[in-house]
Amino acid sequence: MSLELTGITLTYPDGDGRLTALDHLSLTVPRGGLTAVVGPSGSGKSSLLAVAATLVRPDSGTVVVDGTDTTGMGRGELAELRRRRIGIVFQQPNLLPSLTAVEQLQVMAHLVGRSPRRARTRALELLDAVGLADRADHRPHRLSGGQRQRVNIARALMNEPTVLLVDEPTSALDHHSGAAVVGLIAELARRNATATLLVTHDRSHLAVADRTVEVRDGRLRPSAAVS
Ligand SMILES: Nc1ncnc2c1ncn2[C@@H]1O[C@H](COP(=O)(O)OP(=O)(O)O)[C@@H](O)[C@H]1O
Ligand SMILES: [Mg+2]
Repeated sequence: MSLELTGITLTYPDGDGRLTALDHLSLTVPRGGLTAVVGPSGSGKSSLLAVAATLVRPDSGTVVVDGTDTTGMGRGELAELRRRRIGIVFQQPNLLPSLTAVEQLQVMAHLVGRSPRRARTRALELLDAVGLADRADHRPHRLSGGQRQRVNIARALMNEPTVLLVDEPTSALDHHSGAAVVGLIAELARRNATATLLVTHDRSHLAVADRTVEVRDGRLRPSAAVS
């Protein structure tokens, strides 16, 4: 088991009180499996991913990544865990404007102290895997929206994460490129045996998932756990 969320409750300040974004939510994502997360806007999907990514600490509950309980870990330790074990793909690619596609990926390896030469080889392999072998030396402004999102996905996989977290990766894309991006995530998730959690608002994407869960008011609705 690669990602285990147990009894997660997350609240945000809301006027005089607190808003409950996640309410005793538990979810396990096995390696090599793609779990799709659906639910209405405001139901807690992005909050769930932020907690799973260890970017937001829950009020209560535990997040176990690849057998490591993150509960007592400090900020530095969590940052290191994210760099090595967690790939994150959010809505906007957030590429660095001055770097070429291959350099966006090489930066990730640099952050964990890997050899630059090996990093370049892996980066080029990954760009090839996402269909961008001929765009390796292009900066973001010369890439289409779909191509940028592919670079984003390749970058998330650079350090061979065991957990891949993807939040509505297709919201800026047309239906055709969106379907291609989601298909690619599913394929790479299986090939790299990552535990993958994919939030999507597009039900046509659910066909590629091994399992679908629905979030409502911060809770999972297991009745929807079929794709
Ligand atoms: N940083 C924040 N501060 C306060 N409230 C927030 C914050 N982020 C999300 N929320 C609230 O938490 C609830 C869940 O939001 P979110 O996880 O973004 O849902 P979804 O991704 O399903 O649209 C919503 O009511 C939202 O308004
Ligand atoms: Mg969201």
